[in-house]
Amino acid sequence: MSTVLQPASQLPQPLITDPASKESGDGVVKFGVIGYGYWGPNVVRNLDQFDGSEVVTVCDKSPAARKRIHKSYPHIGVVSETADLLSSTEIDAVAIVTPVWTHYELTKAALENGKHVFVEKPFTSDSAQAEELINLAAKKNLKIMVDHTFLFTGAVKKIGQLLEEGALGNIYYYDSTRVNLGLFQHDVNVIWDLAPHDLSIIDHLIKETPEAVSATGQSHLNGHEDVAFITVYFPNKIIAHINVNWLSPVKVRTTLIGGEKKMLVWNDLEADEKLKVYDKGVKISGREGVYELLVSYRSGDMWSPQLEQGEALRQELAYFVDCVSTGEEPFNDGCAGLRVVRMLEKATESLNQKGAMVYL
Ligand SMILES: NC(=O)c1ccc[n+]([C@@H]2O[C@H](COP(=O)([O-])OP(=O)(O)OC[C@H]3O[C@@H](n4cnc5c(N)ncnc54)[C@H](O)[C@@H]3O)[C@@H](O)[C@H]2O)c1
Repeated sequence: MSTVLQPASQLPQPLITDPASKESGDGVVKFGVIGYGYWGPNVVRNLDQFDGSEVVTVCDKSPAARKRIHKSYPHIGVVSETADLLSSTEIDAVAIVTPVWTHYELTKAALENGKHVFVEKPFTSDSAQAEELINLAAKKNLKIMVDHTFLFTGAVKKIGQLLEEGALGNIYYYDSTRVNLGLFQHDVNVIWDLAPHDLSIIDHLIKETPEAVSATGQSHLNGHEDVAFITVYFPNKIIAHINVNWLSPVKVRTTLIGGEKKMLVWNDLEADEKLKVYDKGVKISGREGVYELLVSYRSGDMWSPQLEQGEALRQELAYFVDCVSTGEEPFNDGCAGLRVVRMLEKATESLNQKGAMVYL
């Protein structure tokens, strides 16, 4: 049995440095950003700071958000209508940082106006929309990058490297707990809000195509599920489990990855030593009689590898600017976004049938 994992050397490695690369006109990639709520300010801040990019216009429907933009960035244009931003011939690329249900229409309009697109996770509300946008971008020779921020963290990069080196051996499982109190989303349930992080990490690290998904959950407050448990089945007995919850009294961001040779714990809330690799394992050496399994447990050292520091979103946006400038296809492109949306769709289908197995 062999586990097909993408070696980290083959995993696309995003740029570490800020982009100084130049695209059109005066050479800088010029951006319009739509949505300046919770996450939008992080996108604007980074794009505004790079030498290789410039934020020309930010659009938000909310007057309060427009006031905040103007106060923080008096040099950036502010509009309330997306059409004003999308029709600008000055803008090369658009970042879409609005709720999920708006992603399809805004991405489509941006592509139709000849703009490259950086769009928030999850890419779209369903896979048909994602497929349509991927085809449109290909026809127009434009880039789509889906914000799968965690792929740009030091922890995920290191885990990818450990997999490449074969340090963990064949993978048995991925088990993630991503829980906290709120933030309740009004348009999607906790699966569509929090699980895209783990599903994009799984998609990036485990190169097997998932076979089936099962999900259970419950809504207690606003009609959307606020607690959910998802299981994803892969070939070669790899199993992934994701626990997402908006009703947890404490915030937990802990992932266990169990391998044949080693196991690791990634606690994203730790300031230092986020990743711990345990030289622990189990070996079945045979049977003694009918019932007695000969099981031996190995319990060796634990070590905490050094992780690359820096803001993941900054690295990701630098990579996007570079892809637009050089024409390179981003690895977290529309197809990566589509694979995550497919898993979300299947999880929803299963959730609606109280955990029935749904095959991909
Ligand atoms: N990558 C990450 O780690 C991360 C973190 C948080 C949120 N997100 C994603 O970012 C997106 C936005 O989330 P948020 O928490 O910032 O939402 P939010 O509700 O706080 O902000 C959205 C903003 O978009 C504006 N808006 C909505 N529709 C618009 C339209 N058609 N035209 C102009 N403005 C419009 C709203 O007025 C609001 O200010 C979501 O897809 C979410 O999943 C990603």
